[in-house]
Amino acid sequence: MAKVEAKKTLEQFDAELKQLFITGQWQYEPLLSQCIGGPKPRGEAYLWPWKIVGEKLAEACDVLEESVTARRSLLFNNPGVPMGGTTHTLLMGIQMIKAGEIAWAHRHTLAAVRFVVKGDGKIFTVVNGEKCPMEPNDLILTPQWTWHDHQNPTRETAMWVDVLDVPSNAGGWEEVWRSLEMVEFFDLDAVSSYVLKLGSALTAARVGFFLEQHREELMVEDKHLEPLRRLRPRQPRYLDTRRKPGKLVAAWNLIVPEDVLGRTWAEVA
Ligand SMILES: [Fe+2]
Repeated sequence: MAKVEAKKTLEQFDAELKQLFITGQWQYEPLLSQCIGGPKPRGEAYLWPWKIVGEKLAEACDVLEESVTARRSLLFNNPGVPMGGTTHTLLMGIQMIKAGEIAWAHRHTLAAVRFVVKGDGKIFTVVNGEKCPMEPNDLILTPQWTWHDHQNPTRETAMWVDVLDVPSNAGGWEEVWRSLEMVEFFDLDAVSSYVLKLGSALTAARVGFFLEQHREELMVEDKHLEPLRRLRPRQPRYLDTRRKPGKLVAAWNLIVPEDVLGRTWAEVA
């Protein structure tokens, strides 16, 4: 693996990866909100040679500090899948954790499988509290919505392949709305004070709109909505980052897609 000499910025590194049809997982957040409409089969044969991937993985260790909580994982974007993804339903990446590092616990609706390339019995992934050693050629499963972290207490670098059921199967705003509606109780004072701390007008409008839509179920009062309303955007903004058209909800200056407004998606059995 090549030794990295010059320190480059993360922005420069991201631009380089793009030329190689690779995306760092840390860039992936906005993509999740674009995965609407279900899977549309597409993609083409493409090879990511280890010579390049190995070098870029080593560089990622250099440019991405451990304090960045996103995984140091390089994700392979098929040039025939413009929305991103290694196939139209799967995203594969290769992840590296340096000696002594921890990739902090998180969870998501995406299930993952991991094939260990470089590791030993002292390196481990924790899945919902269960410690899974990571020896070479091991397969570790992380089912949907299970907490997982990765820990490397050794002096050697660990590396494995991740495969996730993402992105085209993700449900966009329908998934967000349905997930939020499964929460039976919100501490509404905490929600509004957190949104105010974030200081984002768009977030205030999104949260305010959701709370207003669920006023009865969540026992939302004007005192919860007013601080959010004061922070709402001065000009109309799109709920959806891709500017999906919809109707203007004037109370929040928010343009909301018709399916979200009317909750017209199919019933779940
Ligand atoms: Fe994860």
